[in-house]
Amino acid sequence: MNKTEQYTSLLPQIESVMDSNADIIANMANMAAMLHETFGFWWTGFYRVIGNELVLGPFQGPLACTRIAYGRGVCGTAWKERRTVVVPDVEQFPGHIACSSASRSEIVVPVFRNGTIIAVLDIDSDQLNTFDQTDAEFLKKMVELLK
Ligand code: SME
Repeated sequence: MNKTEQYTSLLPQIESVMDSNADIIANMANMAAMLHETFGFWWTGFYRVIGNELVLGPFQGPLACTRIAYGRGVCGTAWKERRTVVVPDVEQFPGHIACSSASRSEIVVPVFRNGTIIAVLDIDSDQLNTFDQTDAEFLKKMVELLK
C-alpha cells in the first residue's frame, strides 16, 4: 500500500475508536499508537498547550523533552504560526529541538478547538524527507477527530 492508501484505510479505523465520552488524552493516546504502529515512525505523539508552553502528552517512541516554549522548535513554531510545519531535514531547521539524535525529518500539525490551538501532533522520522502534503492533509483530518 502506498501512503495515501495507508491513510485512507487508517482514518476510519481511528474515527471508530475515538470515544466522545473519554478524556481527550485517552483519544490522543490511541491516535498516537495507531499512527505509530501503521507507519513505523520514530516518534509519534502530542504536546498539549498548558499555560504559555507545550507540555508532553501521550506518545509512542523514545523519551522526549517535557516542555517547549511558545515559538521554540518545530512544535513551538507550528503553535505560534498556527499552521502545519513540514521539515524535510531537521538539521536545516533553525532552532529545531533535538530530543533524539536519530530524528532526521519531522511534521507538526496543530490541533484546533473552537479556533484555539490546544495541542500539536508531532511526528519524527529517522529518515530524511519522510513527510509531504499527503501527510499534512491526512493528519489535519485525523486531528479534527479528537474530541
Ligand atoms: N523536535 C521537536 C521537539 C519534540 S521531539 O521531536 C519529540 C521540535 O523541534 O519542536
